[in-house]
Amino acid sequence: MRVEEHYSLKNHNTFGIDIKCDRFIAVEHPDEVAELIGEGVFLNPFFILGGGSNVLFTKDYHGTVIHPVFKGIETLEESEKAVLLRVAAGEEWDALQQFCLQHLLYGLENLTGIPGNVGSAPVQNIGAYGTEVRDCIDHVEGWRVDTGEVFRFSNEQCRFGYRDSIFKNEMKGKCLITHVTFKLSRIEHYNLKYKALSDALENARLQPSLKNVTDCILMVRNSKLPDITKIGCAGSFFKNPVIPFSDFEILRRNIPDLVSYPAPNGQVKLAAGQLIEKAGWKGRRLGNAGVYDKQALVIVNYGDASPQEVIAVCEAVIRDVHEKFHVTLCPEVNIL
Ligand code: EPU
Repeated sequence: MRVEEHYSLKNHNTFGIDIKCDRFIAVEHPDEVAELIGEGVFLNPFFILGGGSNVLFTKDYHGTVIHPVFKGIETLEESEKAVLLRVAAGEEWDALQQFCLQHLLYGLENLTGIPGNVGSAPVQNIGAYGTEVRDCIDHVEGWRVDTGEVFRFSNEQCRFGYRDSIFKNEMKGKCLITHVTFKLSRIEHYNLKYKALSDALENARLQPSLKNVTDCILMVRNSKLPDITKIGCAGSFFKNPVIPFSDFEILRRNIPDLVSYPAPNGQVKLAAGQLIEKAGWKGRRLGNAGVYDKQALVIVNYGDASPQEVIAVCEAVIRDVHEKFHVTLCPEVNIL
């Protein structure tokens, strides 16, 4: 393992915020987690950091940042129809996408281009263009850092929900994920329900194939989302809010073009981006931070934004959307 003291996390968060942590440990092998548990590292403040694409650091972190970097993609089982792929937490999500493309494995293609590492994917059940990672997860393994035992949660035990899982609830701060096992299909099939995706294929006169669908996803993503290598951000800053049907009916009377999707228990999911846009925030800035002009769900760092500038935009957006629509937005990004 590699241990650093008073280490800058600027290159470890996609917002590009320059803050320091007291100690940084890059874990190079899953067995090293047992060593860290034995040394009592998890008895003091710690934070497990993957690709840093869903986090906003607001101040120096007085604790240990644990950063799994171990890699590996292993085939556990294969048949003519499906493959079980066990992937190490430190693999970049993009490396897994490349592997799938190379080996013609179907299921994850709509999640192409999502930044971050494999170990973080189940925590917030990453999703895009009609697919959620839960659709392809068989099980998740790792260490219970509170008890020192290993765990293996089946898909059902992970209790996946919209941008949610057991790792954000009962198991929050208790688990270090070392491997995610995916069940991927060898049978060609695509999820083209998302209109912008089917339109992109049609407009480019492309037949669906793994390569073409992947390319179109990247095209759609790039048209709406900033390139994180150039503009600091953490993807969607807010979750799409889920509200009771009765509140939705009232809101719909005032906003005839209100975008909505059915949600569990008769509730309704709204598009936060639409509400933020209608509240006048799309493309608006406060100092060096602001709401992205092509997708209002994204808050960006236009230069050297301080975390406080990002928070100021976040708070102003929440306040104005609430004032206008009586809907409370919740950040999706982990604010530390
Ligand atoms: N909309 C607006 N104005 C905007 C943005 C969106 O009116 O500025 C409307 C769109 O017209 C559309 C609806 O809102 O009718 C939904 O927009 P979009 O399809 O772009 O997706 P989203 O709900 O805003 C979610 C995910 C994204 C994911 C896209 C595509 C969340 C929090 N975000 O955004 O995920 O890429 O769907 O499937 O669920 C991420 O999590 O970081 C992320 C980028």
